[in-house]
This record gives sequence, structure tokens and C-alpha cells, in this order.
Amino acid sequence: MHTKETLRQEIRQILHNRLFIVVSNREPYIHHHTENGIVCTRPASGMALALDPVVQASRGLWVAHGSGDADREVCDAKGRVRVPPEKPSFTLKRVWLNEEQETNYYYGFSNSALWPLCHIAYRRPTFQQVQWESYQEVNQIFADAIAAEVGNRKAFIFVQDYHLALLPRMLKQRVPQAVVAQFWHIPWPNPEVFRICPWRHELLDGLLGNDLLSFHTRFHCLNFTETVANEVEARPDQEATAIIYQGSITKIRSIPISVDFSAIEKQASRPETLERMEELRRRYGLPEKNLGLGVDRLDYTKGITERIEAIGSFLDHHPEYRGRFAFFQVAPPSRTRVEEYRRLAEEVDQVVERVNDRHRQGSWQPILYAKEHLEQPDLYALYRMARFCVVSSLHDGMNLVAKEFIAANVDENGVLLLSRFTGSMRQLSDALIVNPYAVDELGEKIHQALEMDAGEVRWRMRRLREGVQVNNIYKWASTIVHKIGHLS
Ligand code: G6P
Repeated sequence: MHTKETLRQEIRQILHNRLFIVVSNREPYIHHHTENGIVCTRPASGMALALDPVVQASRGLWVAHGSGDADREVCDAKGRVRVPPEKPSFTLKRVWLNEEQETNYYYGFSNSALWPLCHIAYRRPTFQQVQWESYQEVNQIFADAIAAEVGNRKAFIFVQDYHLALLPRMLKQRVPQAVVAQFWHIPWPNPEVFRICPWRHELLDGLLGNDLLSFHTRFHCLNFTETVANEVEARPDQEATAIIYQGSITKIRSIPISVDFSAIEKQASRPETLERMEELRRRYGLPEKNLGLGVDRLDYTKGITERIEAIGSFLDHHPEYRGRFAFFQVAPPSRTRVEEYRRLAEEVDQVVERVNDRHRQGSWQPILYAKEHLEQPDLYALYRMARFCVVSSLHDGMNLVAKEFIAANVDENGVLLLSRFTGSMRQLSDALIVNPYAVDELGEKIHQALEMDAGEVRWRMRRLREGVQVNNIYKWASTIVHKIGHLS
């Protein structure tokens, strides 16, 4: 079994004395001002939560955008702070962006162009020159910050996600001795879709600066190599596992990400979790039995409105559940300066109100909705309380809520309903697989989850747990470290 300790040893053996640097837009720890002084929180980002134990094991450096309003106050002059606060094991180096850069690079090109371009959720991407220029500028800021850290030393630089597609090429120019790999955490679209991007050649050129480029699924690898073959003078090999471009090779691999199964299991099993469950029950008025759960950033790719409609349909067809069931949706607001996200927030409010109005009985209503960010211990308690958890993404690179739910469901009494349009569905076939677009069918699956006999619930969950325990985050990181080892 892969563990934090085995990963630590592998990193030591394989990467020798190379610097290990992880780069992402979103930082793993955010410092905020509150009435009680400065507090440190974890973001609602599956990517950041999954990478955190890996960087802890490596004792390396993590470079990310410092987005908290108290971030500067806890850093040294170079933007560095040791984290996690309770037991520091690595250095977080924060990169500072001004308001305009955040608007154009983060809300703009990253989340109004690339995000909708890569997800099939029927939201149209927008492309603006000023946002593209800012995206280039910010990728350069990251490259400068990393080059200053690396100097002439040997390094392995592991870049995350779509915010930093130009960075690998920039790094190859600035620190040519470094090995550079990137993980693309979201889907890669088919070539027809990608063709509409005005700066597609520049993006591909940036990504082909990587020695290794990984996706969650083979399907996304194939989409990427096909896109490259159509758009630039490059030669993918027949199996789509490597691309030769301008004399250098980029290996392409599918390596599905996961969660820290044993850490989640351990935390979920603690006696405090039982107290927390009671406290959450009181705080949100959750029922003892028949609780359904959804946990997502408030994002249009997550299929939240479809899921709420499906609850409505379930109660239309099975009114005997009125008063004996509740669905709790946790949805922290996300990317709120983007119009599409604001519109979604209104849509979700409306559909919750509509379904609640249709089925309300006295003081009982079916949907309980918390538009807030809950910390991991609360989520683990909820995962233990839920009879079922719905992950109904319209499209998702992986979806780690599904795997967290499984890791925390230590009583083996929960059912996972999982969209067939998530990367995780390829590994989690013992879930009830659903099509979020087929709302009535999803309603019937909810009924099936509630009626499923305890034996079936248990064997499904047990098999899911065995799978996630073996295919955990350390195995993912170990695979990447080995691939890198072969390159250097
Ligand atoms: C997705 C992306 C991550 C991102 C997360 C949260 O999972 O792949 O890179 O961190 O969404 O989004 P945010 O914009 O808040 O970082």
C-alpha cells in the first residue's frame, strides 16, 4: 500500500537532491482577517486538498497565488510562510497579483474562457484580448518567482491546472536544467471544440514545454494528442503516449488523482466526529434518517439545479417520503465575479424555493441549503450521516467529493450516486451511475438508494472503499515521481 512514508522515501531516492516544487493558482492555506484576529482556512478546491499531503511528504516548496486578505501579514519579505500552521512541514511561497491581474487572468481568461471551453456544460466561453494578455503576464510572474527560487539548482517542477498553461515553456527557457511536469485537472475537449480558441497555438506551445503532461483519463489524453496533431507541427506517436515537438518530447499519461484515504478515514472515525454529527444535526435541522447530501462549489458544471429538480421528481413519484427525508446541499459560492456564476446562484435559489414550495408540509421542507464553505471535519461528519451522496456533475475531470465520501463512510452505510460524466466514474463502478441530464431517472435512482437493502449498501461501499484505499493520493504521486525519475 502506498503511504505518506513510502512516498517520502521514493522522493528521496528518485529525486535525490533535486528541489521539489509544486505550482498552482489556488493556495492550500489562506489567511484571513476575522473578528477574532487572523485565521487560516483551507480552500474549497479538490486539487489543493489532494496535493497538500503530497507536498507535506516531499517537504518541498509550493508556489501559489496569495489570495487571502491577511496573507501578506504572515509572510516574510519573499512571500514565504511555513505551513500547515499546526505542524509546519513545507514552505508556501505566495505570488502577489494586483486587482486587474486577478480580474483578467483568473476571473477572465482562466474561468471565462478556458473553464467553459474544457467542460461540456453548454456555457459559451468568451475570449478577450486584454484577458489573454493578463494571462501571459501572470504566467510570466509565476515563472520569475520560480526561477528566483531554483537558480542553477536541479529541480523538479510540478505545475497544476489550466491557469498555468504557458508556464512550462517559460520555465524551460528560464531554468532549462529543471524537469517540468503538469497535471491538467479538468477535461480536455475534443479538437473541434478547442479550435474556437483564438490563442490555441500559444497554449499548446506552452503545454508542450512539459516533459510530462498528465490527465485523469485516457480519453482526455487522446483528445489532447488529436488536438495537437490537428493544430501544430508535431508528431504524436501511435499510442498517443508521447509527442515530439520542436525536437523535444512530451510524454502524455493518464494518472487518475485520488484522496488521502487513511487520513480521512482516521479523522472520520474519531469520537469527536460523533459529537460533530449531533452539532450539525442541530445547526441545520437535519433528520436522523434518510438524509441525502450534495457537496459542491457553486459551479455550473456540477449539475446542482438538475439534482434539485430530481429531488422534486422523486417526491412527485414517491410522496410517501414527504416528511421522512431531507436533502442537504452544501455549496460555497465560487468565482462570484463571473456573471455565469452569479446567474447560477440565482437559478439554484429559485429551484430550491420551487421544489420546497411544491412539497412543503407544515414546518417540513425537503431541501436544506447551506451556501457556505464547511471545513473538512464537518464534511467528514456529514459523509457519515448521509444515507446517500449525489455527485451529478455535467462534466468533471475527476471529482474528489465522490472519493472523500467513500473514505469517510466508515460505517459502510452510504450509497454514492455518481454522474457518468465524471472521471471518477471510471474507477468507481460500484456506485449507482447516473445521467444528471435525465432528471426523472435520477429521481428514481434516489428512490433506489433509499430503498436499497443494507446488505447491498454494505457490499457496494466496501468494494468502493477497497478501491480508493489502494488507489490513494500517494499512489498517484508515486506514479508521477517514477515517471519523472525516468526522464531525468
Ligand atoms: C477545480 C480546479 C482547481 C481549482 C478548483 C477550485 O477543481 O481544477 O484548480 O482550484 O476547481 O476553484 P478555484 O477557482 O476556487 O480555485
